[in-house]
Amino acid sequence: MPGLALSLKIGLDFSLKFVRLHEKPFIPIHHMEAHALTVRMLQPLDFPFLVLLISGGHSLLALAKGIDEFLLLGKTLDVAVGDSLDKIARRLSLRNHPDCLTLSGGQAIELLAKEGDQLAFHFTSPMEKLYNCNFSFAGFQRQVTMEIMKKETEEGIEKGQVLSCAKDIAAASQYTAASHIAKRTHRAILFCKSKDLLPQHNPTLVVSGGVASNEYIRQILKIVTDATGLHLLCPPSKLCTDNGVMIAWNGIERLKQGKGIMSYTEEIKYEPKAPLGLDITSEVKDAAIKLPPLKLRIRS
Ligand code: KG4
Ligand code: ZN
Repeated sequence: MPGLALSLKIGLDFSLKFVRLHEKPFIPIHHMEAHALTVRMLQPLDFPFLVLLISGGHSLLALAKGIDEFLLLGKTLDVAVGDSLDKIARRLSLRNHPDCLTLSGGQAIELLAKEGDQLAFHFTSPMEKLYNCNFSFAGFQRQVTMEIMKKETEEGIEKGQVLSCAKDIAAASQYTAASHIAKRTHRAILFCKSKDLLPQHNPTLVVSGGVASNEYIRQILKIVTDATGLHLLCPPSKLCTDNGVMIAWNGIERLKQGKGIMSYTEEIKYEPKAPLGLDITSEVKDAAIKLPPLKLRIRS
């Protein structure tokens, strides 16, 4: 991601100087692990638990087995859900919508969707015939973009103007993204159950990342966790989007367990694309679990 490496370099340079000045231990933090574990700051939650991380940079499902032990069950094959919602919002020129001026793309979509008709447009749910837990949002984004272009021609819209049906497009896009996420999550839960990976007592799904603050997506996920007997935990919105607290909390967890504390910092490098945990996505694919029917439609 252009720009990301530079931000990481600036952060790393600053924190190295800071720990040297104050003679503190240096603990490298994995961004996605920090998202996944923030919830443990707010309430006791034992490992293992299932994590759905949906943000601007990531869409993944993982089993958290320990503070530095994860099994990756599914990941996006192209773009992340937040990125696709941001691009759709930009293509809809929502920056020029009076109610959305200060909102991120995902927030703008959620707000407009509240007044839209999610049935007014139909976008196909990605990878329905592939029985794995991976995500894909590029084709969905393309479909929505083409519909926007079609409507712009029909309405004779100038660049930068907001379509009269923007609310409906937002609602239908949010529904398609939400149901894709819910179906992949449903399969991940069934996979974990089939392999006895979740505890008998209080099996939990944690949802985090910027997109997890979306109330509609939370409601759809609740349908899935209710149907499968899991407990759904979503940290409050301000802790779901990128924040310093989640990084600090991950540092505390590591410090308490004495994990990943560096005594020698000379050769430390940042990693813009560090994968999360042990990748077992092909095992999940081989299990080819078909989903039982589940009604996911809720009012937007
Ligand atoms: O976790 P985050 O702050 O940064 C990354 O690590 O990517 O997530 C930012 C992403 C953006 O794509 C933003 O549009 C999306 O989260 N987002 C939302 C909502 N709030 C933020 N997406 C949907 N609904 C929301 N309410
Ligand atoms: Zn993030």
